[in-house]
Amino acid sequence: MSHADSPVLQPTRLGDLQLKNRIVMAPLTRSRSSTEGVPPDYAADYYAQRASAGLIISEATNISPQGVGYAYTPGIWSEAQVASWSRITETVHRNGGVIFLQLWHTGRISHPDVQPGGQLPVSASAIAPKGQAFTESGMKDHVTPRALETDEIPGIVEDYRRAATNARRAGFDGVEVHSANNYLLEQFVRDSTNRRTDRYGGSIENRLRFPLEAVRAVIDAWGGPQRVGIRLSPATTQPGETPLDSTTHATYGAYVDALSGLGLLYIHTIEGVTQQTRDVPEGVDFADLRRRFSGAYMSNNQLTLDLAAAELAEGKADLFSFGRPFIANPDLVHRLAIGGPLADAPKPTWYGGDFHGYSDWPGMEGLVAVQR
Ligand SMILES: Cc1cc2nc3c(=O)[nH]c(=O)nc-3n(C[C@H](O)[C@H](O)[C@H](O)COP(=O)(O)O)c2cc1C
Repeated sequence: MSHADSPVLQPTRLGDLQLKNRIVMAPLTRSRSSTEGVPPDYAADYYAQRASAGLIISEATNISPQGVGYAYTPGIWSEAQVASWSRITETVHRNGGVIFLQLWHTGRISHPDVQPGGQLPVSASAIAPKGQAFTESGMKDHVTPRALETDEIPGIVEDYRRAATNARRAGFDGVEVHSANNYLLEQFVRDSTNRRTDRYGGSIENRLRFPLEAVRAVIDAWGGPQRVGIRLSPATTQPGETPLDSTTHATYGAYVDALSGLGLLYIHTIEGVTQQTRDVPEGVDFADLRRRFSGAYMSNNQLTLDLAAAELAEGKADLFSFGRPFIANPDLVHRLAIGGPLADAPKPTWYGGDFHGYSDWPGMEGLVAVQR
């Protein structure tokens, strides 16, 4: 069988969406937005060049000023942001693509320098993460966050609702709730970062309460769950090297059961430790999470076409997201289809800067043409 005949590269359906193939562009923060969180004009080229993916998931996008954790990341709370994202979704659609927005609140993975009024970042509990934040004046050590008051949480749920509504207004085909990589929602899920004694802490049910309230608000904003997915990373310790939950599988199993009950479109799981290994730590069972979820299952992390084909044949996953390979290979699907070589993006181009190393990567046959 030639690469082009791979079942992974054939058209498929995701809910009521028709996808050209099962390859998904994973969310990739590229830190090229303005200090007001407005994506640049050339982001439309960047995303449209990658429209041959079956589905594009946007870079993580802050739901509110409080959600910001990294300099130059985009938002979806202001009209200027909605206008810029609208141009991007229009261009992606004109080029035959399908695009979801990833909704983000970084919680404690932030820094006063990127917070409104220089305030402390917020989290479930006042526990400092290890590592450093990316600010406009360089990398700075994380600080101890402020634990959210119980009566502040409904306001953040409303921020999710507004962001989801704005994503819809901006022409996205759907949204992905970012509940992975140790950001705010996962800070509530895991007992290593959630030591609360109110109804948002303690038991698994309590720790899942806020994430599920946020998901329900997003579903509400979209008039149903059919265009709402979620990203989960039960095995990931990054960023900040926080340990896993003390009963990881019970916690994430209960989470997936609840998400399945809500009728969510897909779960997007980072299998193994993000960007590091596909080895799964003891106590995490992705096959069981897949079995428990009634919607589609999207796998991620260091995938190749062969690995994806094997997972599909074994019924382990439906969709396959690729992150780093999409940075320097806008025509990744074509390269996979012909077994062509993959270009490697130098790390300094990953975050920050301008269109260089971003929307100027050529495809195998020259710059990928974009219909504007
Ligand atoms: C530059 C860069 C930015 C990333 N930004 C995001 C992000 O905004 N949201 C997210 O959920 N994951 C993000 N990730 C993680 C990727 O989506 C993906 O899970 C990871 O790179 C592993 O997949 P890969 O081996 O195909 O690259 C990022 C990874 C990289 C390398």
